[in-house]
Amino acid sequence: MITSEMKHFIEHLPKVELHLHLEGSLEPELMLQLAERNRITIAYDGIEAIKAAYNFDSLQSFLDLYYQGSNTLQTEQDFFDLTWAYLLRSQAENVRHVEVFFDPQSHTDRGIPFGVVIAGIRAALLQGEQQLGISFRLIMCFLRHLSEQAALETLALAEEHLGWIDGVGLDSSELGNPPDKFVNVFARARELGLLTVAHAGEEGPAEYIADSINLLKVSRIDHGVRITDDAKLLDELVESRMPLTVCPLSNVKLCVFDSMSSHNILQLLEKGLCVTVNSDDPAYFGGYMNANYEALVSHLHASKAQLKQLALNSIEASWMLQAEKQLLIDEVRSLS
Ligand code: HPA
Ligand code: ZN
Repeated sequence: MITSEMKHFIEHLPKVELHLHLEGSLEPELMLQLAERNRITIAYDGIEAIKAAYNFDSLQSFLDLYYQGSNTLQTEQDFFDLTWAYLLRSQAENVRHVEVFFDPQSHTDRGIPFGVVIAGIRAALLQGEQQLGISFRLIMCFLRHLSEQAALETLALAEEHLGWIDGVGLDSSELGNPPDKFVNVFARARELGLLTVAHAGEEGPAEYIADSINLLKVSRIDHGVRITDDAKLLDELVESRMPLTVCPLSNVKLCVFDSMSSHNILQLLEKGLCVTVNSDDPAYFGGYMNANYEALVSHLHASKAQLKQLALNSIEASWMLQAEKQLLIDEVRSLS
């Protein structure tokens, strides 16, 4: 249950999104439009059929569908439309700054040039900054089920677009694909001046969180909810303020937690961790930013003070300039 006052509070909270896969914001309506526009046959004959497939029992069961959806993206216009639709939704939810992921290998492996993918995304992000007032950073993810060599080749393709890329990340199937598989490519990315993040401790063990920090030198951990399995590491992350980009609706959809009422995000917050709220793959998981915040009120009885702290953590954890952060911090603090 959530009161209209709390809904209103969440709507007016200035929000920052730090864990969003652009390909995961592909709504069924746009997926069908793109399939038609590009004359691609997909396995579903309508919106309801696509939505009926959104019944996941693990990360892998989701990824199988997610990569099928990504196949409908072909032209620069498609990547523009995908990104623009996400930005319009974000503006409607008072999201002020976004740091978004894309998975170039899902596209280059199908013969779509890297330059086509990033040009469409970049044009929409720039238009979003100008017309919607949403500032942004862009993070290129490596697919961890593929080899480090493939990641190195992708990084080489990205080199001519480095001015448009702020960081690299690591996503896809976590179990069996540990951070140490990607030490060299992350070192190269850092040499090129890129920041680093990695998905860790979503389905994988807390050890992957430690290894991402120590071996990949990440400045944030994506997900990280399994930090509770290692009390000593948890204390270290409290001390270092290492951010965790938690995705509540995603975690329940992918059975990382049995239900929202058993999610640990508020426990992590109360222990002093820099946890943040994010939407991950909102088209597939049933909601964008406000729905994720609302779920914490409905199922975990989050207070206004806790929601404000979560929003402040996202600002702190972002890659905005300090002066930009301060404006948002002041705005969050002034809310009552
Ligand atoms: N985890 C791993 N890979 C992903 C995810 C996720 O939550 N979303 C899209 N790719
Ligand atoms: Zn993710």
